[in-house]
Amino acid sequence: MVSAICTDGLTRTFGMLTAVDGVSLDVEEGEVFGVLGPNAAGKTTLIRLINGVLTPTRGKASVYGKDAAREGTAVRAMTGVLTESPSHYERLTGRQNLTFYARLYGLPEPDVAGSVAGRLTLFGLEARADDLVGGYSKGMKQRLALARALIHDPKVLFLDEPTAGLDPEASRQVNDMIRGLAESGGRTVFLCTHNLHEAQSLCDRVAMLNQGRILATGSIRELSEQLWQATPVEIEFLTPPPEAVLTHLSAMQGVTLIDRGDVSLTLRVSQKEVVPAVVASAVANSGRVLRVSPREYSLEEIYFAIQRGREAAE
Ligand SMILES: Nc1ncnc2c1ncn2[C@@H]1O[C@H](COP(=O)(O)OP(=O)(O)OP(=O)(O)O)[C@@H](O)[C@H]1O
Ligand SMILES: [Mg+2]
Repeated sequence: MVSAICTDGLTRTFGMLTAVDGVSLDVEEGEVFGVLGPNAAGKTTLIRLINGVLTPTRGKASVYGKDAAREGTAVRAMTGVLTESPSHYERLTGRQNLTFYARLYGLPEPDVAGSVAGRLTLFGLEARADDLVGGYSKGMKQRLALARALIHDPKVLFLDEPTAGLDPEASRQVNDMIRGLAESGGRTVFLCTHNLHEAQSLCDRVAMLNQGRILATGSIRELSEQLWQATPVEIEFLTPPPEAVLTHLSAMQGVTLIDRGDVSLTLRVSQKEVVPAVVASAVANSGRVLRVSPREYSLEEIYFAIQRGREAAE
């Protein structure tokens, strides 16, 4: 595995306030990595530190081995950042805005016009490319900001609340683009968001941040396994199951019967791998299995469980 972003004990204080507190992370190349946390958790500060825009008080951050504090220019050549409230030159057109940034990033002059046109098309802005940005809607400005973050074809993309303030349609478009970028190979996405549904559908792994500290890191599956040892599974039968089904299931290792309906049973299994054996046993005892559904925990349930755990510990 190639590490794209690495932070080690990364800390930043502002006076008495510790905005980022001993954050150690490893983000792999090609991953969509989410950072979740309430307002003031330190998400935006973390992005600034990793991009070498802010210097750490302690610890360090690197992108593909380049140190953010010492080699900021090299880091920023590899990264694209969609900031929290992107601003544009409103008296220039979309095309002029992108052209300006393409040159700023040092794209070879013969490539500039083509790259700009390509990004405008990718983000559905070609029809309005020669209109002044001052007249763009919020969603169009956000798409232009994404196009700008990608103008130099960065390997690592940082997105700070990319869909904040967008309507459902525009949010979906932006999310589809993010997914497309990640799937098109080798590009790593570091996504800060408050939208747990969005994070659940986009992220391979997430880190939960609160008051500058990481509370937990992992995939949804890993986090639910850390939180809850057992997975609930519901089994529905075509007709009421014979008593033998219940006796055998209750005797199985790693299975706990928690509820019994007329044609359904709810079990708790120690791990999902037990489910096929559960089904085999029910069928062997003449249970007419209609549907088996392991219930996944949602990122929202995980988020609140972790945040509540923190409050309880305080
Ligand atoms: N330049 C600064 N000067 C002083 N305090 C700052 C500065 N930048 C950030 N902070 C403080 O650091 C803490 C973390 O801020 P940050 O913007 O990183 O949070 P965030 O997780 O991005 O929040 P939000 O979800 O509201 O965007 C906050 O308490 C903020 O006030
Ligand atoms: Mg922020």
